[in-house]
Amino acid sequence: MAPSVHPSSSPLFTSKADEKYANVKWDELGFALVPTDYMYVAKCKQGERFSKGEIVPYGDISISPCAGILNYGQGLFEGLKAYRTEDGRITLFRPDQNAIRMQTGADRLCMTPPSPELFVEAVKQTVLANNKWVMVSLIPSRFLPFWFYVPPPGKGALYIRPLLIGTGAVLGIASAPEYTFLIYTSPVGNYHKASSGLNLKVDHNHRRAHFGGTGGVKSCTNYSPVVKSLIEAKSSGFSDVLFLDAATGKNIEEVSTCNIFILKGNIVSTPPTSGTILPGITRKSISELARDIGYQVQERDVSVDELLEAEEVFCTGTAMVVKAVETVTFHDKKIKYKTGEKALSTKLHLILTNIQMGVVEDKKGWIVEI
Ligand code: COI
Repeated sequence: MAPSVHPSSSPLFTSKADEKYANVKWDELGFALVPTDYMYVAKCKQGERFSKGEIVPYGDISISPCAGILNYGQGLFEGLKAYRTEDGRITLFRPDQNAIRMQTGADRLCMTPPSPELFVEAVKQTVLANNKWVMVSLIPSRFLPFWFYVPPPGKGALYIRPLLIGTGAVLGIASAPEYTFLIYTSPVGNYHKASSGLNLKVDHNHRRAHFGGTGGVKSCTNYSPVVKSLIEAKSSGFSDVLFLDAATGKNIEEVSTCNIFILKGNIVSTPPTSGTILPGITRKSISELARDIGYQVQERDVSVDELLEAEEVFCTGTAMVVKAVETVTFHDKKIKYKTGEKALSTKLHLILTNIQMGVVEDKKGWIVEI
């Protein structure tokens, strides 16, 4: 429901800057860059260790035309979110997992990664530097009308994008002599704006990842190749694309930006992380939460034919959170799935976001307060 009184008209917002933040229309935000004020930058020579970086004003960076990232795509990214909880705290969800994933990716791409401790500390510093985007009022939000929560619980978060890129010059194929670890942020709403479920199209022409490649790490190079499929699917009215495995073309793997699950009876199944699937942190968390409420969770090859029998299909990811799939189309078949209040995906979405937003106690040690 849209706020009846706009926050910027309130005397609680005292400066022009506060008005700027308060004027963000969270309902219309979607997932597009809204630059915030500061970013974090650290540099490191190959083979040395990253030491503490600095918070600098958000802006363009200067980079050698011969940089590893520009020429050979030597780069990784991460995605996590800072939430404003109902009782006014700012929290992160499992940032240590992002830090570990960046280390695994750096090993695959022969890059020097920040230590997990430095990663988490840098994320905290970046969020604190931009904390207006998650906290505009010093008054605890429980004393305020719902529209004062910025982002309002359940409507948005501060998306945090850590990057590890080869910025040293390399003309021949090699690992770059210098690395930059950079973090910027953007307030975001829903990745897909439609409140109903996604309409996925199975891509029979392109593959996202192959055995022995980089599909299992968050390499920047995994993402631009999906754009062609995405544009084609969107031009035919679909919301997103579901990729099949490269080896057989018989099993489902991953959607362009997120992991996928199917439900049949009491069994929730998701493709295994055996090198071609991104080991999603939301994927891992949702598997645990589904087990907690009595479902059997299987990580196994899921054949595309199983989509015909599934009762529900849903996607998970940091940007996506948990999103129901309404239809999947492959060849000339369009299969419809359960969505809405009674769907398991809705239940899991609520359980997860209640933990993230501090609505329920975090018994798993997943929440890190800033
Ligand atoms: C995320 O969920 O953080 C992602 O990496 C999705 C991104 C490609 C938009």
